[in-house]
Amino acid sequence: MTSVEDRARLVLGNWKMHGSLAENAALLQALRAADPAAHCEIGVCVPFPYLAQTAEALQGSAVSWGAQDVSAHAKGAYTGEVSAAMLQEFGCRWALAGHSERRSLHGETDQVVADKASAALQAGLTPVVCVGESLAEREGGDTLGVIERQLEPILALGADALSRMVLAYEPVWAIGTGRTATPEQAQEVHGAIRVALRGLGAGQVRVLYGGSVKAANAASLFAMTDIDGALVGGASLVAEEFLRIAAI
Ligand code: 13P
Repeated sequence: MTSVEDRARLVLGNWKMHGSLAENAALLQALRAADPAAHCEIGVCVPFPYLAQTAEALQGSAVSWGAQDVSAHAKGAYTGEVSAAMLQEFGCRWALAGHSERRSLHGETDQVVADKASAALQAGLTPVVCVGESLAEREGGDTLGVIERQLEPILALGADALSRMVLAYEPVWAIGTGRTATPEQAQEVHGAIRVALRGLGAGQVRVLYGGSVKAANAASLFAMTDIDGALVGGASLVAEEFLRIAAI
């Protein structure tokens, strides 16, 4: 699609393994009152046990919610896994797939990540597929090659599937380190992803940036042509900071 690429900004929080019923209650109450900028959609991806609490607190608000992982399987003997249909029952809109912490700590392969994205799509969720290079890969000059390899099975799902997904570029070396990619470094990768998407007629797919995003650096990232929003870790645990990012 070379005509209109209407990519509304999306700011998603990834709480990772943080929170408690009591801590969440305060955070969710503040989020419930959110009044994001008209051009910005917002959501939070919370730990599985807190989905019911989140759904109840955010129902009817401007903030959508989702999970941080999803099984590639529909049902069966997969101890510990959570299916997309289960997430859907809790009103989830989003399911992260292939976060670098899942890839590195749980051995998720590029193909497994694509299978998870497919499973999410089948249940009507929007998968947020994460890609990103390690510091060694960047220093070895291999950044775009790594991104291309990680995206290959995702792009193979085709334009229709892609049009119902969100992608997120999260350089591993920028996650939780306070070391954000410069807007130019991020744009270089986002631009390459956009070229690949356009080649498949899916240029309208939103591509978020993640890695030490905070209110102080979000505006310069959002100013880049191919950065359509942010996947926010640490700063999403502080309502005021998160909502400031969504207000830009
Ligand atoms: P930080 O914002 O804490 O660096 O985390 C980024 C991230 O991994 C979001 O998914």
